[in-house]
Amino acid sequence: MDDLIAAAATVRENAYVPYSRFKVGAAIRTPDGQVFAGCNVENVAYPEGTCAEAGAIAAMVAAGQTRIAEIAVIADSPSPVPPCGGCRQKIAEFASADAPVVMATTAGGRHEVTVADLLPGAFAAEHMEGA
Ligand code: THU
Repeated sequence: MDDLIAAAATVRENAYVPYSRFKVGAAIRTPDGQVFAGCNVENVAYPEGTCAEAGAIAAMVAAGQTRIAEIAVIADSPSPVPPCGGCRQKIAEFASADAPVVMATTAGGRHEVTVADLLPGAFAAEHMEGA
């Protein structure tokens, strides 16, 4: 997992954050071992900004991959940075419930949970069966 955190830390440097000044990096490993990274990209129209996790997912899907084996997120925060609510749902779209999510700080803090820990009772395709 350390290499995934390192990839997230590297891409974090490219975050475009003129409004929050809060740089976030995310990196995904797919089951075949490929790594895809993303950073947050803000916009003067604030709701149009995108999270680091969303960027990493977009890079993964653009490369033809649709499964997250594990994901790491890093920021310069006092405690390991958790994915926002929307990103939890985005991650759950491509990850198993038991997939590891490592939250990290640039100072070396680490906290590992699973996708199910982040999004218990997730809305899923099964809920639309019969529609
Ligand atoms: N942000 C992320 O990119 N990922 C997270 O997990 C939490 C928040 C970004 C969005 C925004 O650019 C900045 O952090 C402040 O909310």
